[in-house]
Amino acid sequence: MAMPAAAGLENVVVASTSISDVNGQIGQLLYRGYDIRDLARESTFEEVVWLLWHGELPTAAELSCFRDELAKNRPLPDGTAKLVDRLAEVPAAPMVTLRMATSMLEIEDPCAKSIAPPDESTASLHLVARFPTIVARYQRRRRGLEPVAPPPNADTATAFLTMLHGTRPTAIDSRAFDTLLILHADHEFNASTFTARVIAATLANVFAAVDGAIAALSGPLHGGANERAMNMLEAIGSPNQAEGYVHNLLAHKERVMGFGHRVYHAEDPRAVILRQVCRELAQHTNDLRWYDIATRVAETVWNAKHLYPNVDFFSAPVQHLLGIPTDLFTLVFAMSRVSGWAAHVMEQHANNRLIRPRGAYVGPALRPYVPLSAR
Ligand code: CMC
Repeated sequence: MAMPAAAGLENVVVASTSISDVNGQIGQLLYRGYDIRDLARESTFEEVVWLLWHGELPTAAELSCFRDELAKNRPLPDGTAKLVDRLAEVPAAPMVTLRMATSMLEIEDPCAKSIAPPDESTASLHLVARFPTIVARYQRRRRGLEPVAPPPNADTATAFLTMLHGTRPTAIDSRAFDTLLILHADHEFNASTFTARVIAATLANVFAAVDGAIAALSGPLHGGANERAMNMLEAIGSPNQAEGYVHNLLAHKERVMGFGHRVYHAEDPRAVILRQVCRELAQHTNDLRWYDIATRVAETVWNAKHLYPNVDFFSAPVQHLLGIPTDLFTLVFAMSRVSGWAAHVMEQHANNRLIRPRGAYVGPALRPYVPLSAR
């Protein structure tokens, strides 16, 4: 009998990738060799998506053309728009809506029929372009508002906030959201990306892989943590309640959402940047409440458990300060991560082998069948 790997595949290296690298000892994240801190400071989400897909940063001409293609492809095909409208009328969970809309996009996309490189990269571009439109449309419809058409010539961050709120965001809000998108775009073999690669390795297309990845992302131990982190900040309500709230959670052996990580033993660099973004937004809006509560929670968790916040913790107050409803936070994560999922699907298909591990059987040994009458 084969011996099982560590529970949860901890420290198991399952494949090679040249897309991103996490060094958990020093708290470093690289996309194609570029430090996430440099990308967050200097680049834009569109540059990062190009980098993840092509391995190099785009030239000015490539970037301009890529931005145009994304903007041109933001409107939803008819069936997908109708499905989102329908789901906004029923109490469907938002992540289910995104999953169903992804399946509908597959039905409506001629590129879905093939996994050959030109079709797969066009389908991937469609997904990255349309996720923000789906999320914004869903939110407006369920509030009884008319959807806002994707603004032409806008980058992803500006387009999403415009479609969501119906007004063009300030440059500060746009940049904050763009940074959030950059930070969420890829993260090596996390649960949803691994799911996407397993699906892609059966030679299923990028839509199928993204469907599965959304499902994996939705759980509270993965992308679903950002929504729960905000619920916690709201339940705490004021900075001086933070310490008691956290101690109570820990005393009941509950997890503090947005803390801890399988790979990082130093601080998650994405959390460091998001903490800074949160402070800037809070100072700008003169609303330091969420930043202050979050900081007190982080101090308390560190003192009690020596756990650092992960990407999902400060993403919560950042999204809240940008006016994004809490139950859409994980969809925003998906809106960015879909670029990383697509990069991994393309990498998998370029050098494919079915992913089919073994399980260590621990059930009963061979035994005679017992007829129904004798049981
Ligand atoms: N709150 C309280 N205790 C924790 C937490 C937490 N958030 N995270 C880990 N621990 C403790 C855990 O109780 C255990 O302690 P003990 O050994 O005394 O039982 C120890 O740390 C190791 O935990 P583990 O569950 O074996 O570690 P893991 O590598 O399997 O878990 C994790 C990683 C992210 C699932 C976990 O840290 C967690 O549940 N965090 C909260 C959910 C969360 O924030 N998820 C987002 C993850 S990062 C971004 C993303 O992928 O979306």
